[in-house]
Amino acid sequence: MNAEARSIAKDETPGIFSEIAPRYDLLNHVLSLNIDRLWRRELVRMANVHKSGAVMDACTGTADVAIAFGKRLEYGTVAGVDMSDGMLGIGQSKLRKRGLSDRVKLFEGDALALPFASASFDAVTIAFGLRNLPDYSRGIREMVRTLKPRGRLLILEFCPPTGGLSLKAYSFYLQSVLPVVGGLVSGSRRAYEYLASSIGDFMTRDQLLAMLSSAGLEEVRARKLTGGIAYIYYGEKPNGAA
Ligand SMILES: C[S@@+](CC[C@H](N)C(=O)[O-])C[C@H]1O[C@@H](n2cnc3c(N)ncnc32)[C@H](O)[C@@H]1O
Repeated sequence: MNAEARSIAKDETPGIFSEIAPRYDLLNHVLSLNIDRLWRRELVRMANVHKSGAVMDACTGTADVAIAFGKRLEYGTVAGVDMSDGMLGIGQSKLRKRGLSDRVKLFEGDALALPFASASFDAVTIAFGLRNLPDYSRGIREMVRTLKPRGRLLILEFCPPTGGLSLKAYSFYLQSVLPVVGGLVSGSRRAYEYLASSIGDFMTRDQLLAMLSSAGLEEVRARKLTGGIAYIYYGEKPNGAA
């Protein structure tokens, strides 16, 4: 995808997600054979937040990660932010059904200009959201801004195919299976073409780790998931950082 096509697609992102919102959860679970649930659970476990902690999930979508934190943080607070009102609407009704509306609050907002004061959260997460931002580095720095000193940033994200036989299988899946199945079930093939190309265009593990270090994070590392299809990236804000 060329730079112009990519920026147009990214400008359209909230609209694309609102289009597929009613089928988003179902498709996630079907297309990933439910592995996405395990990945999100691992993300929440690695955040290791105290049950009275404060957490923010950026690009929260239909709020699966925010809900998982809500269940764990008995006395804490969870904020979820997303630009798509369609995705947030589904998230809101899931929160009501689970009786978590008091503990988990959803906000419509831009991950590049988060509606929170600096140093507010013990952990900030973003699951499958970073690759949708028009400026990855700015998104990371903005999330880091909202972390308290010693707070943790965790990013769950797909990794572009890197080599070998698995490269061919994964590329085939992204280019042929994902748009066709996603398009049939959601009614929006262009949304799933966009999702596939956004994975192919995303940073490699080493590039993303370098970006976390440049944003001033410490203890930076990546945990490989399911043979490297996805990673959880981890970094801590230094003590005394603004
Ligand atoms: C692939 S979904 C991931 C949703 C959820 N985190 C999950 O794990 O399923 C990406 C989400 O990012 C949101 N998004 C894209 N750009 C955004 C931005 N600049 N600010 C906030 N949300 C954004 C979309 O609306 C969408 O809900």
